[in-house]
Amino acid sequence: MEPCSFIYRLPKAELHLHLEGTVTPETLVELSMRHDASPLDLAQARALYRYTDFSGFLMAFKAVSEHLRTAEDYELITWSMLESLARQGVVHAEVYVSVGVVYYWRRCEFEPLFGGMERARARAESELGISVYWIFDAVRHFGPEEAAPVFRKAAQLRPQFPSIIGIGIGGDERRTGAEPFRDLYAEARDAGLHLTAHAGETVGPESIWGALNIGAERLGHALSAIHDPELMDLLAERQVPLEICVSSNLRTGCCRTVEDHPLRRYFDSGLMVTLNSDDPALFESDLTDEYGLAQKRFAFTEEQLRELAANSIEASFLPAEKKVMLLRGIESLK
Ligand code: HPA
Ligand code: ZN
Repeated sequence: MEPCSFIYRLPKAELHLHLEGTVTPETLVELSMRHDASPLDLAQARALYRYTDFSGFLMAFKAVSEHLRTAEDYELITWSMLESLARQGVVHAEVYVSVGVVYYWRRCEFEPLFGGMERARARAESELGISVYWIFDAVRHFGPEEAAPVFRKAAQLRPQFPSIIGIGIGGDERRTGAEPFRDLYAEARDAGLHLTAHAGETVGPESIWGALNIGAERLGHALSAIHDPELMDLLAERQVPLEICVSSNLRTGCCRTVEDHPLRRYFDSGLMVTLNSDDPALFESDLTDEYGLAQKRFAFTEEQLRELAANSIEASFLPAEKKVMLLRGIESLK
């Protein structure tokens, strides 16, 4: 079912979105025609997006990422992503880019590719009126040695590119927890970067404690917090923003059914919940769909959806004056 017009009109921020996960099979075919001697057809491209569990999802994410080669590719996918976000009423996005995948699998320089992303960002800011920050994401199961150049590149580029706002760790937390990244997180914070971490997506609450213990300010997924009352109290008391991604959790099998998902219980317990799409092309769900899901399957009223949108602005890394301006737009929406 189509999300209602209120959801489209609601000014909102997307805080958990992977650039590579926004690339559709159609765009992948276009990129493959640019680069491959025997390009993928649409059926072959679609086959890359099939998976049955979380490990399969990570492989699909990697398969899509491998087709991104040049600065022009990154410019195209960034522009397509931002056009889609603007159509959904997204006024600000904080987007993960998997610099870790570029370094580890492709062994190439990231800066030229980032140039393409920045061109699309600047154009979108002026033509679509959407603001964008980048979060440089490392692949946690490659370990801290591989994460170090990712975070240091963010620190090095940030003075020239203030759109680089923070760092994070994605990938497989069953293989690598947060603790090994403690020193690197401290170093990134000292460089003025914000700290995020995927945590409690595939494993228990100890992974969320681990992310908090190394200074993560915002948590991706945090599904398993529901099993730890002490952690729930702490998250509520500190108002730690949670980047909730319901469709992602259902599609990867991290959460079995909608009824099992803790979104409603988190919200009712006073946690700082935001809704996000994670990898829309891999989960076939964009941010308006996530708000629609909250409304239809979790019985969120329009006033509560407005609260979720306000949370997304408050939990962003925007400066206070811009937050106030955007929050006014949410309050005044009829
Ligand atoms: N979790 C872990 N790794 C990922 C994700 C995610 O949500 N999206 C892309 N890589
Ligand atoms: Zn994610």
